[in-house]
Amino acid sequence: MSVTPYSAQDGTKKDQVKTMFNRIAPRYDLLNHLLSFGIDRKWRKRVVKMVKGMKAPVILDVATGTGDLAIALSKSHPSAVYGVDISVGMLEKARQKVQKLGLQHTIILKEADSEALPFDRNTFDVVTVAFGVRNFGDLNAGLTEMGRVLKPGGKLIVLEFSRPANFPMKQLYNFYFKRILPLWGGLISKDKEAYTYLPASVMEFPEGEIFETELVNAGLHPEKSIRQTFGIATIYVALKPLQ
Ligand SMILES: C[S@@+](CC[C@H](N)C(=O)[O-])C[C@H]1O[C@@H](n2cnc3c(N)ncnc32)[C@H](O)[C@@H]1O
Repeated sequence: MSVTPYSAQDGTKKDQVKTMFNRIAPRYDLLNHLLSFGIDRKWRKRVVKMVKGMKAPVILDVATGTGDLAIALSKSHPSAVYGVDISVGMLEKARQKVQKLGLQHTIILKEADSEALPFDRNTFDVVTVAFGVRNFGDLNAGLTEMGRVLKPGGKLIVLEFSRPANFPMKQLYNFYFKRILPLWGGLISKDKEAYTYLPASVMEFPEGEIFETELVNAGLHPEKSIRQTFGIATIYVALKPLQ
C-alpha cells in the first residue's frame, strides 16, 4: 500500500492528499522555493524549453497547484494553458497569481481530478505534470487519462522527484530530506505530517526505468528521461502513439 499523508486517519490517499494541499496552500510557495533553494524554478524552465519550439500548442498542466508551471508555460506562446487540480485551496492561490500577472486569458484554471479529466480525447498537444504524479491516488488511472486527452503524437512531460544514487549527494540528500525538511517544513506549514509524507512518498515512488514501465502500461511511449541536479528530480518525456 502506498504512503498517505495522515496515516492514522481514515480516507483514501486522494482524499487525504486533497486535505493536505488545502491545509498547506497558504504557505506552499514560500516553502517550495525555500526548501528547494529555488532549484525547482530551474527545472520548470527546462520543461518550458521543451515546449518552446512548438507552434501555439494547447497545453494541459495537471496537478497545477499554485500555478507555477502553468505560468512559466505561458511564456512558450501557447494558444491556451489549462491548469487543473483537486485542491481548491491551491487553485485559489493560482488564480490570484494569474490575475496579478494579467494572464487570465491564456491560463484557464479548473477543479478536476487527474483520474477523470473533463476534456475530450485527443485535445492537447502537450500535457505536463510537475510534482503531481507521486500524489495520485491511482497512478495508472492518472497516466492513462492524461494519455486519453493528448492528441496522437502529443507529448506528456512529467517532472518528479527522484533520488541521487552516488556518494556524497545520496547521503546529503537523505539527511536533508529525512531530517531537515520535515522539521522546517512542519514548523513553517504547521502541518508536520505533510512534510513527513513528502520524503516518504519520494522514497517509495518509482523512478527511472520503473517509472518508464508505468508510462508504457498507460499506453505511452517513453522518449527520454533526463535526470536533473544529481538526480534529485527527473524529467520524463513520453509520446502518445499515432495509432
Ligand atoms: C506538490 S504539488 C505540485 C504543484 C505544482 N505542479 C508545482 O509544480 O508546484 C502537487 C499537486 O497535485 C495535486 N493533486 C494531487 N492529486 C491530484 C489528482 N488526483 N488530480 C489533480 N491534482 C492532484 C495536489 O492538490 C497539489 O496541488
